[in-house]
Amino acid sequence: MAAQQTFGLDIGESSVKAVQLAPFGKTKKLMALGTIPTPIGGFSSGNDYVLSAMSQVIKKLVKDSKITTKKVNIALPESKIYTRVIEMPPISDEDLVSALKWEAEQYIPLSLDEVNMDWQVLNRPQNPTPDSKMEILLSAAPKKLIDIYVKLAEMSDLELVSLEPETLAAVRALTENEPDPPTTLALVMGAEETNLIIIKNSLVVFTRTISSGGNAVTRAISTNFGLEFIQAEEYKKTYGLEKESFEGKVAEVVKPMVDIIVGEIKRAVAFYQSKKADDIVKRLVLVGSPTLLPGMVRYLTEAVGIETQQGDPWVDVEIDSKLFPDALVKGPTYALAAGLAKKEINE
Ligand SMILES: Nc1ncnc2c1ncn2[C@@H]1O[C@H](COP(=O)(O)OP(=O)(O)OP(=O)(O)O)[C@@H](O)[C@H]1O
Ligand SMILES: [Mg+2]
Repeated sequence: MAAQQTFGLDIGESSVKAVQLAPFGKTKKLMALGTIPTPIGGFSSGNDYVLSAMSQVIKKLVKDSKITTKKVNIALPESKIYTRVIEMPPISDEDLVSALKWEAEQYIPLSLDEVNMDWQVLNRPQNPTPDSKMEILLSAAPKKLIDIYVKLAEMSDLELVSLEPETLAAVRALTENEPDPPTTLALVMGAEETNLIIIKNSLVVFTRTISSGGNAVTRAISTNFGLEFIQAEEYKKTYGLEKESFEGKVAEVVKPMVDIIVGEIKRAVAFYQSKKADDIVKRLVLVGSPTLLPGMVRYLTEAVGIETQQGDPWVDVEIDSKLFPDALVKGPTYALAAGLAKKEINE
């Protein structure tokens, strides 16, 4: 059964993460999990040398994590694709394609034959009035980018089953099995970039990419205390935003960096609320290793004023804690890879 044979691969600028799940009664079971540092950043340039180094590392990750399948789902970085929620008068599915092409031409800086377009109707008014609008989530991935991932999968001896925007993987990881989920903002942080996604009823209704992530915090510590990057990393992971640790000196440096993100979250929520006054964003969920920063959940709860929690991709996944001792605490790290791994099992 195909469902048991696909794993999720999240290729980041800082690390590569892999998760393999299998169906397990009505739930899923964690079969394999692993991470490895990214050898050289910027592989999406398609440079042969970088691709070759990356494929070696992926092969090692697959072997060391004991992944038992060659079939893989990979995420496309949000910053390299174009995603947008579009409003238009209600029209039939037949008319939608040409209308979307016209819309896409407005904002995608590439010609339409250079991208793969995909869309999802978010809502369609039941009894349209002259003012009614339907909303569509439109995404376009450059064909050149897709070609690079196809080539990388091939060089890594893997069979690429699907490529999808990382926002969709995040949503799948986070919105499992909740009967009436509150509208949620997912903060997906990486080493160099951060994505904000507003999720309503398991659908992406807003996205925004910010070019700052966990490494910006490390650089601030490094500059302020005159430390090497590696040492600054340790300070960050040990003290983070905790005021009680190290006389709060690290927290003082970290706080302005996190406040940049706080400002962006507030702006995103205000924008959404200006369009949907009756659909309050009630929850903030944290995804990505940088959100493991000590004191982060407490700080964001207070600074943003929205209930905040670590993203848990394992809600419906059985985990043998002897085999995978750090899977639980590293939920935010593996969330995207887990979301990718759930794809075939859910379908
Ligand atoms: N325990 C921790 N506390 C705080 N920050 C952490 C912790 N562990 C890792 N990080 C930070 O997380 C970042 C790396 O995260 P990760 O490997 O998930 O990024 P990535 O997915 O490769 O990046 P991107 O998504 O931007 O391509 C680094 O900035 C690192 O310092
Ligand atoms: Mg990442």
